[in-house]
Amino acid sequence: MTQKTVGEFAAAHTRELARLLRGLRARLEIADPDDWARAEDPRPLPSASEAAPGVCASAESASVEIRLAKLKEDVLACRKCPLGAQRLNPAFGVGSASARVMFIGEGPGYEEDRQGEPFVGKAGQLLDRILAATGLSRKTEYIANIVKCHPMADPSDPSKRGNDRQPSPEETASCRHYLDEQILLIRPRCLVALGAVAARVLLGTQEGITRLRGRWREYLPAGGEDPFPLMPTFHPAALLRDPNLKADVWTDMKELKRFLEKA
Ligand code: URA
Repeated sequence: MTQKTVGEFAAAHTRELARLLRGLRARLEIADPDDWARAEDPRPLPSASEAAPGVCASAESASVEIRLAKLKEDVLACRKCPLGAQRLNPAFGVGSASARVMFIGEGPGYEEDRQGEPFVGKAGQLLDRILAATGLSRKTEYIANIVKCHPMADPSDPSKRGNDRQPSPEETASCRHYLDEQILLIRPRCLVALGAVAARVLLGTQEGITRLRGRWREYLPAGGEDPFPLMPTFHPAALLRDPNLKADVWTDMKELKRFLEKA
């Protein structure tokens, strides 16, 4: 090997090493929940009205808001399953009537039951940071759950922490139409299923979230004509348990951003 060839060989390996280090640093930079904000992209996404010129956004969203408020009243009075009588407050949904993205979790927990709003506990605070890093927020988008009332392991004691369980298939089936109506009223550009329960319910599959995440699928709400693009990703609570999953969620959020930029 000539002197020049050795130099070229070393330079190529230095470049490769630098590339690997950049990738490693990118993964480590979001290894802590507090670091989501650091990954924030300074370029804001186009607003809903910019993204859909010609639509009289305010009149349309006012009418959607009124219909959402009516649906919320129905949920408040709902006793279609036992959860309605057990919960303190339903967590109907929160966000904008002209949201581009609807994030869908599994069901309210302890904090959500108290505050009557989805994703306000620790997982919700992490979700807020993920949204901020993606250029989104709970005010500009919409956050809802598969079931609106807190499924408790021990319904006799709503004051107990950690008293959570997954919603049963019966509870999911009786609550599902509320979510479908929310989707059809808001008509977001796309849906993001947060976690295995939401992804499995919406996609009607038993496949694991590790296999489902990051790939665009479709969801057709009952009574709808066109399916909505749906991307499953890990639930923020899973990220609190295993921070290694953050890199995958960040990959999914970058894909979501790409989708919104061209939608
Ligand atoms: N987990 C969920 O799936 N939904 C919430 O609202 C809170 C925690």
